[in-house]
Amino acid sequence: MFNMSAVPELRILISQEQIRQKVAELAGQITRDFKGQPVMFVGVLKGAAIFLSDLARQVELDATFDFIGVSSYGNRPSPTQELLSGWDSTGEVRLTKDVDQSMRDRNVILVEDILDTGLTMAYLKKILLAHQPRALKIAALLDKPSRRKQPIEADYVGFKIPDEFVVGYGLDYAERYRNLPDICIVPRD
Ligand code: IMP
Ligand code: MG
Repeated sequence: MFNMSAVPELRILISQEQIRQKVAELAGQITRDFKGQPVMFVGVLKGAAIFLSDLARQVELDATFDFIGVSSYGNRPSPTQELLSGWDSTGEVRLTKDVDQSMRDRNVILVEDILDTGLTMAYLKKILLAHQPRALKIAALLDKPSRRKQPIEADYVGFKIPDEFVVGYGLDYAERYRNLPDICIVPRD
């Protein structure tokens, strides 16, 4: 288990117990919404990997997994700048890994760690819809509505959070802290 005392500057925003309950709730909704139908989970690398693995194990449906990779072009700030002022990409998103299976006529659930400006999701939604899935739903563990630049909402949202930079449960700061079991705030000072 990760030793939290090694990173005393992090403060817990959402505990692992709160996450566990919420994931079970979301899984229940998905199970009811797609009753008797197969679903295809498509996780956005790397942040959604932990959420997807917990969510999928609670969903009582015939399911498959796939993963998609994206990176943003343009003026990506340094990790420090990203922490201070957020991630302000030009909105140009590039696919670094495509899905392996066909999405045509499938019930696709796109799984993301956090919906921030919405630029990544808006791009992914557009390209996934071009594959003509039977249904396309978005599941986001976290949502920062105050940061939105694209009018996009998730169908399944875990927690709406304020404009803070968070890590843990898959979310990183310069690739670290993804393995923290709780979701923690990185202080901006
Ligand atoms: P969007 O395109 O602005 O919605 O960005 C979504 C992506 O930005 C997420 O998949 C995360 O990788 C990253 N991100 C946004 N906010 C945070 C945060 O608070 N902590 C860690 N990563 C974040
Ligand atoms: Mg990230």
